[in-house]
Amino acid sequence: MNLLRPEIAALEQNGITRVALPRIDDPDVIALWFGEGDLATEGFIRDAAKQALDDGDTFYTHTRGRQDLRDALKRYLDALYGIDLHPDRITVPGATMIGLTIAAQMVLSTGDHAIIVGPAWPNIDSTFRTTGAEVEYVRQRRMGAGWRLDLDDVRSALRPRTRALFVNTPCNPTGWVMPPDQQAELLELCRERNILLIADEVYHRNVFDGDVAPSFLSIARDDDPVIVVNGFSKAWAMTGWRIGWVVAPSRFAEAWSILSECFNTGATVFVQRAAVTALERGEEVVARLRDQYARGRAIVSEVLGRCPRIELTEPQGAFYVFPRVRGMRSSLAFAQGVLEEENVGIAPGYTFGPGNEEHFRLCFAQSHGRLREGLERIVRYVERHDNEFESG
Ligand SMILES: Cc1ncc(COP(=O)(O)O)c(C=O)c1O
Repeated sequence: MNLLRPEIAALEQNGITRVALPRIDDPDVIALWFGEGDLATEGFIRDAAKQALDDGDTFYTHTRGRQDLRDALKRYLDALYGIDLHPDRITVPGATMIGLTIAAQMVLSTGDHAIIVGPAWPNIDSTFRTTGAEVEYVRQRRMGAGWRLDLDDVRSALRPRTRALFVNTPCNPTGWVMPPDQQAELLELCRERNILLIADEVYHRNVFDGDVAPSFLSIARDDDPVIVVNGFSKAWAMTGWRIGWVVAPSRFAEAWSILSECFNTGATVFVQRAAVTALERGEEVVARLRDQYARGRAIVSEVLGRCPRIELTEPQGAFYVFPRVRGMRSSLAFAQGVLEEENVGIAPGYTFGPGNEEHFRLCFAQSHGRLREGLERIVRYVERHDNEFESG
């Protein structure tokens, strides 16, 4: 007999790993499929972890995170947004992904309804569905030079049992950045309807205009139904460290403590020490990475811009593009074809939610030489197969 809960049995492997896993360790592949660059985390951050190990930091720690890390986060966030966070709002449960999973577990159960603003990173869909909730997408639209979300689409999707709404800004995969006035309107809607707004701001420092993206933290009060999830992976290039934080209403602090125990019993302790160092000494790293990504974005525009079949919308944030290949019938077949014939790894659009079958995603955080070569090969593939796309 199948012991799996129906919600688990129904889950499908996401399209990114579906394409990538068969060739994941192949050195011939230019891998633009995952959300990371190819440079290791800065030496002084690694040294902090080594020092913590040498100091014997190998024990259990507070389930909501070491006090010095939560203090450093408060200083960082207060300064970044000009706010004064209640310390009980900050928790370090482990990776950003654990923060998202716990946030969903806190409010969703079988029969509930959850809205995801799409296109969205597919792991959100999976983690929401494991709760038994029904998941519905409200999709951003491509309008002129950018992506936009129409809040009337969100309003029309609401149901009596809508308990959670997920929005990721800056957005993986579109690079859309939600403007502050729209954030205020969405927050108001969630207040009125008592819906938990789960705001994923993991790309908060990956913006191409300014230093930080507009944040729900600037407007959310402690009593608001908002959980802002964030992490070290993207701003400080620390994807393998598995560490992030959340800012939630302080009345949820005990629930975070209990659920952190269920998932991880707190984040890895020597990683937490390195995270303090990243916050306190990492601004130069954040700025340098942002410059590198900005140049990567320019290379994408230059190379993909030459191909008339590819419609490119320039991202305002994160480090992905989500181009449309006009007339593409299967994004999975496209990603697999590019991999097989050109040895370039990209992610198929379908996995980012409904309406994305003509799209693919690529990450431009890679070194520029490899990135340019990968892009040239994608263009070559599209040109070679041009007569196979539908006209229009
Ligand atoms: C939108 C979004 N949220 C969360 C995560 C997960 O972050 P982490 O690897 O720090 O758990 C990612 C990773 O790619 C992401 O793109």
